Parts: sequence; C-alpha cells; structure tokens
Amino acid sequence: MTIAPHLFRPLTLRGLQTRNRVVISPMCQYSAHEGHMDDWHMVHLGRFAIGGAGIIFTEATAVQKHGRITHGCPGLWSDSQIPGHARIAQFALRNGAIPAIQLGHAGRKGGMQRPWFGNGPLTADDIARGDMPWTAVGPSAAPVAEGWPVPHALSGAEIISLIDDYASAARRALAAGYKIAEIHGAHGYLVHSFLSPLSNKRSDQYGGDLAGRMRLALEITEAVRAVWPDDLPMFFRTSAVDGAPEGWSIDDTVVLARALKRLGVDVMDCSSGGIAGAATASGGQKRQPGFQVEYAQRVRSEAEMTAMAVGLITHPQQAEDVLAQERADLIAIGREALVDPMWALHAASTLGHDTVFDTWPEQSGWWLAMRQKTSDFYSPQ
Ligand SMILES: Cc1cc2nc3c(=O)[nH]c(=O)nc-3n(C[C@H](O)[C@H](O)[C@H](O)COP(=O)(O)O)c2cc1C
Repeated sequence: MTIAPHLFRPLTLRGLQTRNRVVISPMCQYSAHEGHMDDWHMVHLGRFAIGGAGIIFTEATAVQKHGRITHGCPGLWSDSQIPGHARIAQFALRNGAIPAIQLGHAGRKGGMQRPWFGNGPLTADDIARGDMPWTAVGPSAAPVAEGWPVPHALSGAEIISLIDDYASAARRALAAGYKIAEIHGAHGYLVHSFLSPLSNKRSDQYGGDLAGRMRLALEITEAVRAVWPDDLPMFFRTSAVDGAPEGWSIDDTVVLARALKRLGVDVMDCSSGGIAGAATASGGQKRQPGFQVEYAQRVRSEAEMTAMAVGLITHPQQAEDVLAQERADLIAIGREALVDPMWALHAASTLGHDTVFDTWPEQSGWWLAMRQKTSDFYSPQ
C-alpha cells in the first residue's frame, strides 16, 4: 500500500479527525445583514466542502454588535443568528468537512469601510449609503493610525461583559454545529490590540508588561474553553509579529502559545501584522511564498504545539513540503481557494493521491472517472 502524501494524512484533534490537512482560512465576505449570514455565505463556504477541504473556517464573527469590522460582517451576539450558521455547519459536516468558527471583536477597527469602498475609516459617502459609524473600543484611547477615530478605552466592567459575550457566542456556535472554535487574536483587532505594546498603553492589570497585555487573550480563552466541549478543539489565530521594532515579537508569541496550550488551546494559527493599518499590512513590500511559515515553525518547535501555516501557500507541492519538513501540521489556504474552490481535490490529483476522482463527491466523481476512461481530450497544437 502506498503512503498518502502528508497533505492527505488525517489529523486527530481531540475527538475529531480531519480528512486531510487542508484548511480554508477565514475570509470576510462583508455581505451579512445585521450580522445574519445568508445564501451568499452558504454557497461561498459550501463550495469548499464540495471541494474537499478538511476544515472550513467561517469568517471573523463578532461576539458583540459593535465588534463587527464592517456593517456587512456576521455575528453570534444573538440567537437569531444561529440558523444561518447552522445551515453552513451542517452542510460542511454532511460533505466530510469540519466546520470551524472564528470568534472575533474588531476593537479599534470596528465599523470601518468594506474593502471595495476604501478599506479605511467610514466617510460621508459610506454614511450616505447607510453605514452609520459607532464608537470603536480598544485598550487605550489611541487610534489605529492618523485619520482613524479615537476609540473608547474599555473599562474593567466592560472587559468582564466582553469576556462573557465571547462565552455566549461560543455557546451559540456550538448550538449551530461548529466543531472548532478559534479566537481571533490577530490583525490589529481587539485581542491583538491588547497584546501589542504599540496599542496597549493601559496601566491596570490588562496592560503594562507581557503578562498584563496577555491577560485579556487568556481570560477570553478560558471563558470559551469552559463552554467548548472537552472533545472538541480550540484554535487561536495570532499575529506572530507586528513587524515593527518596538512591537509584538515572535518570542512573545511563543510565550503566549505556551500559556494558551496550558488553557486547552490545541492549534496556533500563525498569521502576522495589522496593528497599525487597515489590513494585515506588509508596508507595501512584496511578499514571498510562504512568508509566515517560519512563525508556525517557531511555535511548533518551541511551544511544542500543533501549528497551522498560512499566507501565500498556493501550490500543492509547496504545502506538501511545509508538512514534510515538519514546519507546520495544517495548511490554511485563503485567496487561492477563491481562485480554485476545489483546491484540495486538485491538490490530491497533483500529488498523485487521487488521479481517478475517487475522493470527489459521488455526484460528480463517477462521471469524471468515466469520462477519463472513455474520452480523448482536446489539446492545442
Ligand atoms: C477576502 C479576505 C477576507 C479575510 N478575512 C479574514 C478574517 O475574517 N479573519 C482572518 O483572520 N483573516 C482574514 N483574512 C486573511 C486570510 O485568512 C489569510 O490569512 C490571508 O489571506 C493570507 O493567506 P492567503 O495568502 O492564502 O490568502 C482574509 C483574507 C481575505 C483575502
């Protein structure tokens, strides 16, 4: 019997087993209505389940109404939002994929423009379209960058109710059928803004030294872990580095990973950047293939934790090499899955794991195998 490529070896995470190591990275769609998902989300995420991915992440989902990044972001702050998520989670499960939720709070970046309207703070044009601003919140009254609104610094009491809202959203996610809960601790949103010394200027127990700045991330994790069943895994997405000299560093990430592991986080999802700009800013510099894999590798070896690599991993052989070299345990695919929603099935073919459509959905696999056996194909001269 031939051994499967690393990308197609199942991974056991607590009581779950993935069908392969391909994960669809969370990707905002900016298309929800008052935090409710609709048919767009169903089709967008459903295609990845049909396309063979092992785990499918729903986009950043707000635990509070004002924790949305944009007016089009989904939430789980209300029971009325559960059915939209449930449809997607059930569809993924029925088609062999594990549905995962990313729970987030946009913090200082709450209530910004949808990317195609500018990806910055709201302007008069956005307000005219009906996207009314709200007061964003953060660790300190310091804006993301010049020209961004000054956030309200969360009080101790507000932090307690925020943590409670994370737990409530996790309960709703469980009711919807999600099997993995991820805390969004990256990209300059609320949790990351507490971690980074560039944005957290507090002098109470939620600021100051590394332990103080990590406190919110750890308390949220503890609260979610308390409601998330023991047999289901938790992930944490980190911005492993801020990319600024005085900012959050990979060494800090390793310390955080060890603390999260003690609290029952199973996988570190290693992204980067975003603390001082709209997106996961690269400062306009061109990015290299797999530019964040080194962070997953550091966390994996130094915190001895299961790690997920993400960022410009586009080719199946590239993903296979990252796993074979033991630099990560899972591979998250973002934009390339928008190019090819069937990335996982195509990767199986490219890597010689399934060249006869065996792992394709039965609705199409039988026909494609038959066509392959019985047909000649056009090839340009
Ligand atoms: C349309 C879009 C929306 C995104 N939304 C999220 C999000 O909701 N949460 C998150 O952590 N990252 C988000 N990201 C970042 C991706 O998850 C991923 O980390 C990033 O695109 C790099 O991976 P890639 O090169 O495979 O696309 C988004 C990326 C894109 C392209």
